[in-house]
Amino acid sequence: MTQHRGAWKNRWTFMLATAGSAIGLGNIWKLPYMIGVNGGSAFVLVFIACILFVGIPLMMTEIMLGRRAQKNPFNAMQQLANEANASPHWKYLGAMGMVAGVLILGFYSVIGGWVLSYITLAFNGSFDAISASQSSQNFESLLNSPYLLVSWHTVFMVMTMGVVARGVSSGLERANNILIPALFAILLILLGYSMSVGDMQAAYQFMFTPDFSKITPVAVLSALGHAFFSLSLGMGSVMVYGSYLQRNVSIANTTICIALVDTLLGLLVGLAIYSLVFANQLTPNAGPGLIFQTLPIAFGHMPFGHLFATLFFTLVAFAAWTSAISLVEPTIAWVVENTSVKRAHATVHLGLIIWMIGITVSLSFNVWQDVTIVFGLGIFDTLDKLTSTIMLPLGGLLMALFAGYVMQKHHRQDELNLGRSYYTAWKITNNIIAPLAILMVFLYLLGLIG
Ligand code: PHE
Repeated sequence: MTQHRGAWKNRWTFMLATAGSAIGLGNIWKLPYMIGVNGGSAFVLVFIACILFVGIPLMMTEIMLGRRAQKNPFNAMQQLANEANASPHWKYLGAMGMVAGVLILGFYSVIGGWVLSYITLAFNGSFDAISASQSSQNFESLLNSPYLLVSWHTVFMVMTMGVVARGVSSGLERANNILIPALFAILLILLGYSMSVGDMQAAYQFMFTPDFSKITPVAVLSALGHAFFSLSLGMGSVMVYGSYLQRNVSIANTTICIALVDTLLGLLVGLAIYSLVFANQLTPNAGPGLIFQTLPIAFGHMPFGHLFATLFFTLVAFAAWTSAISLVEPTIAWVVENTSVKRAHATVHLGLIIWMIGITVSLSFNVWQDVTIVFGLGIFDTLDKLTSTIMLPLGGLLMALFAGYVMQKHHRQDELNLGRSYYTAWKITNNIIAPLAILMVFLYLLGLIG
């Protein structure tokens, strides 16, 4: 028994929803600290190359697969494999994506919770005239409190699942219409402030002066993984959004716009943060706490900082929210399209599972700090690395191979609807460059493990 599928009203809502999925904590929280941890410009350059040569073509591929099948990723892969007389096992690609989404949301919602707690701190004026060490202390005391972490994680989960339960065309996408431009606007204000008081030159040098000697295999691995994470690729989020898309919309244009906005946003946040980091003698490789430790210093000293800080963290929370929704949509769509379980019921059950994963993640920052899962990695790191550097690129690799070598040629040509040279460019990147890049990274990983 299948239930009714939603559909986007027009190209603009699809674009906003997909941008909403892509733009999130990945840009604002994760990219900046990964730049610091991985040696600055070396990472940035590889990351940009990964977006251009792997991210953009694979985003087109993923949207194309979704739209062609008009189904959730599991059924979509099953149907497409069937159409191409290929093995039905391709459907497990959809299943892997669902698992990845659940695992990602398990830690994503904990960080979403940090953002929510920072809205209240900002609102209460806790950043006013704050020093660098006070700011670090604020963050430490949040991390050290399992009670606070779990509570905020719970709030974030309820917000997310509340929207998911109501279905895809619920109006949140329309909110993106205002939220994304607003986020940009406030970022520009932040950037202006950082430029005037921070050390923008040092930040620029740190992020953009090419120093190829610093490109390490680990930086390449992380940059590739982050390109997938940042564009929401490899797990079916973009596929399921593509499945609600009408036939007459250009996949290429939409993809390029989203990838540009997504990448630009992350780099701007990075610049704003590093100019403060260098001006305040903070360390660039602070890890996941970076934005929570540095940005309050800026907001705490700028005119109307109180207001801007509250607004900024609120917008980040919205961005995280729209991404979180897209992490569970593939699974919920699969349940709704294959069983008679109601959307709301499915959402509650899935929400509980993810909530429990999030509790273990919350504890991994304090009481379970010393618990390791594999290779000495704690719970948060294990989930993060497993999904970003393995599951998403693997999903992407398989989608690329399927689209390039298994799917019927006229089907992909119909869906992509590109001029000759653009089609060739897509084909070369999708069929050769992206798979090779991912395979090389995997070989390196195997070497690390072995
Ligand atoms: N792209 C989102 C972000 O940058 C995270 C995400 C990853 C969402 C994978 C969906 C799928 O925050």
